[in-house]
Amino acid sequence: MDHSFWLERWKKQEIGFHQSDFDAALAKYWSRLEVPPGARVFVPLCGKSLDMVWLAQQGYQVVGAELSQLAIEDFFAERGLAPNVNRVDDFSVMSAGPYEIWCGDFFALPQSAVENVEGVYDRAALIALPADLQRRYAAKLTSLLPRAPILLVSLDYDQSEMAGPPFSTPSRTIEALFGDQYACTELVAKDALTGHPQFAQRGLTALTGAVYLLKPR
Ligand SMILES: C[S@@+](CC[C@H](N)C(=O)[O-])C[C@H]1O[C@@H](n2cnc3c(N)ncnc32)[C@H](O)[C@@H]1O
Repeated sequence: MDHSFWLERWKKQEIGFHQSDFDAALAKYWSRLEVPPGARVFVPLCGKSLDMVWLAQQGYQVVGAELSQLAIEDFFAERGLAPNVNRVDDFSVMSAGPYEIWCGDFFALPQSAVENVEGVYDRAALIALPADLQRRYAAKLTSLLPRAPILLVSLDYDQSEMAGPPFSTPSRTIEALFGDQYACTELVAKDALTGHPQFAQRGLTALTGAVYLLKPR
């Protein structure tokens, strides 16, 4: 899955993954990470997610990483914020208020981007990627932030019923990707097909939404 796929999605506004409200799992389970207010938190592959707004409202400094400049510009414009833009390596770093969003390829993100980050929130980041990139994503994230807990919102379905994205990341995949370095706890797993009929239309007969707490060992 190359960059042009996502850049096109944003250009054509085919962003069915974007939610018009905070993700319920974030508000419900974030406290389990025990990240102190005021800390820096990281949202990889952040899009223009309102979850960043929720995190800022809890008093966190939010660092995002996103390929699409359009997505980031929308995020700031929708908040009425005019970001400062700095160049770091191949990234445009756009910042305003409690937000600092690095525009570029997550896999090239420098360590300096996530300095002092104490917690990570992944919704629709890991599951946006096919299996080979999931492995690279987990390796990159854990090398950038080996000591930070992660709240991960995931989907589990029969991959033969539908082509991703989103891709299925069942508990055995989470364990295979992160289990060496993190204690992986499934906080909840429940039917997600009823609330997302578009996936039934794409051929799914079952879909489970699950939330994981990953704590560094
Ligand atoms: C499924 S969307 C999820 C966005 C956001 N997390 C949310 O919940 O709305 C995946 C996002 O990852 C971005 N993306 C994909 N590959 C990327 C990469 N290599 N580096 C940075 N961002 C990437 C896409 O542009 C897209 O906005």
